[in-house]
Amino acid sequence: MSRLPNRRIVLGVAGGIAAYKAVDLVRRLRDREFEVRVVMTAAAREFVTPLTFQAVSSNPVHCDLLDEQAEAGMGHIELARWADLVLVAPATANVIARLAHGLADDLLATLCLATTAPIVLAPAMNRQMWQAGATRANVLALLDRGVSMLGPGEGDQACGEVGPGRMLEPEEIAARIAARFRGGALEGVEVLITAGPTREALDPVRYLTNHSTGKMGYATAAAAAAAGARVSLVSGPTALPAPPGVERIDVTSAEEMYAEVMVRAARCDVFIAAAAVADHRPARFAEQKIKKGDTPAALDLVRTPDIVAGVAAMDGGPFTVGFAAETESVQAHARDKLERKGLDMVAANHVGLPDRGFASERNALSVLWRDGIREFALAPKAELARDLIQLVAERYRAEHPA
Ligand code: C5P
Repeated sequence: MSRLPNRRIVLGVAGGIAAYKAVDLVRRLRDREFEVRVVMTAAAREFVTPLTFQAVSSNPVHCDLLDEQAEAGMGHIELARWADLVLVAPATANVIARLAHGLADDLLATLCLATTAPIVLAPAMNRQMWQAGATRANVLALLDRGVSMLGPGEGDQACGEVGPGRMLEPEEIAARIAARFRGGALEGVEVLITAGPTREALDPVRYLTNHSTGKMGYATAAAAAAAGARVSLVSGPTALPAPPGVERIDVTSAEEMYAEVMVRAARCDVFIAAAAVADHRPARFAEQKIKKGDTPAALDLVRTPDIVAGVAAMDGGPFTVGFAAETESVQAHARDKLERKGLDMVAANHVGLPDRGFASERNALSVLWRDGIREFALAPKAELARDLIQLVAERYRAEHPA
């Protein structure tokens, strides 16, 4: 059997009308030199025959958990170990619920419990089922455990309705799976990243700051390093360890961050401003602790330097990416920021919602550049950071062809 190392995919097919598209998905994965083994649920076999998948995958199809012959060939534990990635497409509401609850009542669910490989789901269902509270809760539980979601997309549905719930097209799923395996998108690129909050001192014991924990910036630094970049991280005070292979420079105030960034910006290729820099600092620093009795009537504030705008304004400066935290009209404000600050790209997130943003483990991003936009759905920050870095690499390479 010809087997490429580290490119083995178990494709779980669940029982939805989109199961027929999974046939095409197998072909497109094989076109990208993945070896594919298909696991079908009982309901999937009502839509497509195992023989079809056997023909397109050139491998036996796995259907039953307790089939003696199949277990003797490649049993569920072996299959779980064989996989470099488990992809479930289509992932129906039922499969999502069973995985969220850790059931082990068929081959696919058992395999997902038994594998240490990453699990990626491409949901497909009626829009109402996708939006139902139970499905939302199940999806969030899976995301929190590190399961990835590709889609669903929006559009016409087999049931005649229009809305979110369509499985992504096989070509897009295959391309995004291939991108996960590629790595090295920023090989040889120097990346400078800011992260965390800044602290603006009022007196020796008090300061102004914000709720940033630095998670998104640190995840972005880790993703850039994993993509082969040399990464420097200028970080405000956080509780996070430096990601492996990343050089961390600790700063406290916006002015210190500005100074450390400016000495490095000229020699980096990509600058990503993920820090939540305080926009204001106290106009005066009291050398001694301000006493209770000396309560100032008002606090005089002055602006801090805008670091990302400073880098964007440099002659021959790096490809510059800013973040935008907005509570309303996210895209409009982000586009305005892109133009006003002269940035190459803006990653905008919605901070007014309870399930994302500051201090949360998850986020969703709308990423804009001069003539494009890409939406990244709610996902763990580590995964979003990987997607963002792939997109940064794509745009950076488009503007700096080798
Ligand atoms: O203007 P606003 O603060 O919303 O812009 C956010 C973006 O600008 C972020 O990328 C942030 O890191 C960056 N920024 C900066 N220096 C500042 C304020 C914001 O680099 N003083």
